[in-house]
Amino acid sequence: MLEHFYRDVFTELARVTKPSGVWYVFCDGQSYPAFYVSAYPHVKALRPLIWDKVVSFNGYTWRHQHEIIMFAELPEAKPIPTGDGDILRNRAVPVNDREHLAEKPVDLLTQLVKKCGRVILDPFAGSGSTGKAALKEGKDFIGCEIDERYYRLAQSGLEGIEPSTPSNKACTRQGQVAPQFDNFE
Ligand SMILES: C[S@@+](CC[C@H](N)C(=O)[O-])C[C@H]1O[C@@H](n2cnc3c(N)ncnc32)[C@H](O)[C@@H]1O
Repeated sequence: MLEHFYRDVFTELARVTKPSGVWYVFCDGQSYPAFYVSAYPHVKALRPLIWDKVVSFNGYTWRHQHEIIMFAELPEAKPIPTGDGDILRNRAVPVNDREHLAEKPVDLLTQLVKKCGRVILDPFAGSGSTGKAALKEGKDFIGCEIDERYYRLAQSGLEGIEPSTPSNKACTRQGQVAPQFDNFE
């Protein structure tokens, strides 16, 4: 049903991402196959990572306790020699602490951002947690957010964030959330 949308999104992402870049796309067991098919023509490798949220929420049995993160390497991406495993364990943001329904923990995103290039793009920025991780790591950030409430939330959340380590402080740093989809180069 959403195939056209997925195809358009990945075509645009391929257009604006450097050939040496990588993508991390959060999805679940239902959306992963559609994302895989749509991303496949643009990349040299695709792998599922598992985010273990540590907790599941009350309800019926087999509640979601994980999300899949589709990791995509663009054609000129270089291998990252860290030896890290493909399961990330980071507690989900408690529901009562969330400012966005789908808010991701900044410490989870920090692990991903560390393995990216100097400029981070999140085209669906929500509360801006990817931007917070990027700025803490001393990287530049561009976000896009269609909902004005979340756009303002993300923009104000990025203000005043400083790189977290001295080596990160050596980098130049700019964070910007755009209220609509924009070019990224
Ligand atoms: C899954 S949420 C992102 C949550 C974010 N990672 C966080 O931690 O807060 C997706 C966001 O994409 C936004 N969105 C949906 N369609 C969009 C579009 N076409 N352009 C920009 N933002 C869009 C939604 O308003 C929503 O805030």
